[in-house]
Amino acid sequence: MVGFQEILVATLSSILAPIILLSIYRLTLHPYAKYPGPLLGKLTSLRAAYYAHNGDMHLDIERCHQKYGKFVRYRPNAIVVNSPEGYQDIYGTGKKVKKAKSYKVHGITNLIGIQDKKDYAKQKKIMQPGFSDSANREHEPTMIRTIDTFIEKISENETQEKATDGWSNPKNMTLWCNYLTTDVVSKVIFTTSWDLLTSTANHGITETFKTIVRLTGVLHQWPTLRNYELSALLFLPHLAWSAPSLKKFSLSVMSRRYDMGEKDPSIKDVFGLFSTARDPDTGELALAPLDVRRNTGNFIIAGSDTTASSISASFFYLARNPTAYAKVAQEVRSAFPSVSDIRAGPTLNNCVYLRAAINESLRMAPVATQPLWREADPGGCIVDGQQISEGLNVGAGIFSLHHRPEAFPDPYKWDLERWIVDPSKDEEAEKERIKEMSRSFAPFSVGPRQCIAKNFALMELMLTMANVFYQLDFESAGKLGEGKKGAGWGREREGEFQFKSYFTSYMDGPMIRFKKREA
Ligand code: HEM
Repeated sequence: MVGFQEILVATLSSILAPIILLSIYRLTLHPYAKYPGPLLGKLTSLRAAYYAHNGDMHLDIERCHQKYGKFVRYRPNAIVVNSPEGYQDIYGTGKKVKKAKSYKVHGITNLIGIQDKKDYAKQKKIMQPGFSDSANREHEPTMIRTIDTFIEKISENETQEKATDGWSNPKNMTLWCNYLTTDVVSKVIFTTSWDLLTSTANHGITETFKTIVRLTGVLHQWPTLRNYELSALLFLPHLAWSAPSLKKFSLSVMSRRYDMGEKDPSIKDVFGLFSTARDPDTGELALAPLDVRRNTGNFIIAGSDTTASSISASFFYLARNPTAYAKVAQEVRSAFPSVSDIRAGPTLNNCVYLRAAINESLRMAPVATQPLWREADPGGCIVDGQQISEGLNVGAGIFSLHHRPEAFPDPYKWDLERWIVDPSKDEEAEKERIKEMSRSFAPFSVGPRQCIAKNFALMELMLTMANVFYQLDFESAGKLGEGKKGAGWGREREGEFQFKSYFTSYMDGPMIRFKKREA
């Protein structure tokens, strides 16, 4: 008779044998076996999932590049590349790659998640007009009205304390910027709003957004988990609650918007574009109700925390760099005769110090810091001279690209002057220097899958900061968000804004206080 010991041995070896064989394959015969990287990363995606969960992935990738060089095998089937050539080869136009299968966590029929290039082109054609120059001009008045409310609220002194010389109480700008951008995006895309700037009733949704991008980030790195909600429930129950919350939230937005549309069919917004579009071949609705819901959820999140983090970073760095602050303030305050003249257009575009401050903040604190994985098409592709086999993943760590010392001398220093032509030097050489630097700068990504709302987001960043500078003074009111000694590798630099690299970045702070300028 077969004894307990024999059964145990047989069971263990049937479990262990495939794992051992797979490990040997991954370390020897696998097409990525020749690339250096952390041993655990070569063997399992769990290592990357761990860093996605704790929000240190941008730093881990940076440390890996410092240790192993330009190419790092970060997961068994994925390498990260740190060079401008590699970046263009992965994300640029006409490359033989598509979005990796891990994007199915967003839903395979959701603009950001679609893998098939033809299906993507169809949906992009529907969405694109919502972010054209003329559409942005239509969005601008709504945006400006919301920025006005933001300025009113952040300059309030809510503490009712004794004399404060006109200064507001300190505000946590990550929170306030999220209230601003969520109100903007909900009004522009869905003609509805949760009025986060003026009411505390819905403030909880920002926590839901944060949890959903954390969960999304983990599942991007752990693609063997097939079913999004079930996987989350089994392995990440502390994050799983956010998926049904987002679903409920998206459904409530849709139902509110459909009701409004019935009462007033003339409403023009981005939701109207994608919820009513018809397939030219079949005449049927182009997006099924599930696709409408998924795109709704995506727009709410992609359009809020990203811009919020970028504005918070701009406040963080400008409040700590008095010379830069003075230059931007002088520039904005002398460019416009009155606050109502602050509009998107040539005058705002000529505010080169303001734009440089925003660029430098996007460089230091980019919002998409996990590698945006791409999968090689049939026949494979070439990335910075390396052959990538069909089906394998490749990506870039944007934080590392933005901190290449070859492109950005003193890379951890926030320095807006690096974006400005130095008049004491040769003009052509200076322009060439900035051009070369820009090859390693891609906060919105590049190529066919770059941010569809790049110009919209830049308009929001420029209009917000220009209006703040015109109407208010501001200063730092605490160290929240700063690097500090003992905070761990890469987090010890004082004066550097820290963030968690979930699928999008998450910050806390800075604390800023404001004062209305004399008329
Ligand atoms: C500073 C602000 C923003 C930054 C830095 C940013 C960055 C990015 C990046 C890097 C991607 C590429 C993602 C990928 O390859 O998977 C992306 C895609 C996308 N973004 Fe943004 N974004 C910002 C604001 C916005 C806003 C305001 C909206 C909507 C109103 C938006 C909507 C989208 C959408 C729908 C996609 C998917 C596009 C596609 O696959 O065609 N983003 N964004």
